[in-house]
Amino acid sequence: MVLRPLSNCKDIIIVAGDISHKLDVILDTLRLFKARYARVFFCPGNHELWLWGKGSEDSLARLHHLLQLCRELGVETLPGEVQANQRRLLIVPLLSWHHPQWDSEPDMEGWVGARPVDKLLSDYYLTRWPTGIAIADGSAARAVDEVNDQLTSWSELLKRRQGFSEVISFSHFLPRLEVNPEKRYLTHPNLAKGVGSTYLRARVELLCPDVHVFGHTHFGYDLAVDGVRYIQAPLAMSAERGYRGSTVALGSFPVASAQPFLVWHSEQLCRAGHPEAKVHGQSAYASRYGRRAEVADAGLQPAPGSKVRVGWLPGRMPVWLFGPHQHRVLEADILKKESAGTGAAGRGRSGQQHQGGSPEPIGSAEVLELLRTGCCAVIDVREQTSSDPSRPAESLRLPHPSMTASFPGLPDDELLLLAEELMANDGPRILVGHGDQPEHCHHAALLLAALLRLHPRDVRPFRGGFEAWIEQGLPVQGLGET
Ligand SMILES: [Fe+2]
Repeated sequence: MVLRPLSNCKDIIIVAGDISHKLDVILDTLRLFKARYARVFFCPGNHELWLWGKGSEDSLARLHHLLQLCRELGVETLPGEVQANQRRLLIVPLLSWHHPQWDSEPDMEGWVGARPVDKLLSDYYLTRWPTGIAIADGSAARAVDEVNDQLTSWSELLKRRQGFSEVISFSHFLPRLEVNPEKRYLTHPNLAKGVGSTYLRARVELLCPDVHVFGHTHFGYDLAVDGVRYIQAPLAMSAERGYRGSTVALGSFPVASAQPFLVWHSEQLCRAGHPEAKVHGQSAYASRYGRRAEVADAGLQPAPGSKVRVGWLPGRMPVWLFGPHQHRVLEADILKKESAGTGAAGRGRSGQQHQGGSPEPIGSAEVLELLRTGCCAVIDVREQTSSDPSRPAESLRLPHPSMTASFPGLPDDELLLLAEELMANDGPRILVGHGDQPEHCHHAALLLAALLRLHPRDVRPFRGGFEAWIEQGLPVQGLGET
């Protein structure tokens, strides 16, 4: 991340937690921010409350210790006023901790091996709480929430809030379910039980900020819910920026531009006084398709270690394709190499290639039945080799490799139209290539499975290619035209 120059800086930075679990790294980082920004607002995240080894300090004491160190450094952890160009802004840090009860949406049904949240999160092992307080029953979340009242009078703050036309609050954890991806999209669905706080939600609802900034989940978000604009602009881990930058990013941050995401500008008066929304990734997906938390069946479970079929629903463009253009192109290149089994990324993170089975060729009888029920999409992957325009009826043209490898780089609107057509209907994608090049069609199937987040077994090359398609009497359009 690029920090501001040392002198004459009037900028303010909000740091929404998870700098490190190491005290010296936390303090050095906060000192660095203090040296580069006019003011630094901070709230600790879960990593800051991790305790390594044996000791008498518990995580609640650690929180108080950190807050004291912040006071000594001049790092702001209490509500603070900003005045600029005749405008007054109130910035409100809100302390919070996660608890499983926050997640009130249906659990995924029948997912094999889905681990419970206390086996997923290091927080359950690396924090210690005073007697009678635990994460599992929500008492840790309540205890951390109560620290807000110990630091400042909540009723006084609500009164003070009335004097401000612009308010930004921030927390490490999530106040609303709507700003977390639906469980189908999570590598581990029960992670949804370790990200949010109902105590935090209650405070945000009473405070009614214009904007609430949050962190923790490493998904770029910019989404308005009930009149509040919720923003997450995560730095994330370097590996995440590499393999899923499209869902980490918000606008150009953090990969295409290392400048921190701009939340408020004293001279910009768009959208309730704040810079325009940067709708990308999960929040763009949620804005277009809404939330379908009730879709929670076992058929959506990805193969272990694979990226495929995570939350796929008919007619929807996969989430990652909503990412910024630069990220899409970068990730498409990685997926291209992975699906071809070449390059540094050739075998993927799991060390296993082509999870979810192999593309299974399909014959005419099965295709006819699928066409009759409308449960498939036919994709013509032949590169144009002649002037004959004939092709499978109602098929989409996506020549391989000229288009399969490059379509994620299309302009946003064109990509959306194409991807929603490619994903139309339930059932398999049927690829039609040249009869004498079955390997060509197989490669196209592997690549499309990776790009569209499908199981390879659900992308099926037509046996014998277009020549067999015609011979076997399957419907054709454009036959004989010039
Ligand atoms: Fe976190």
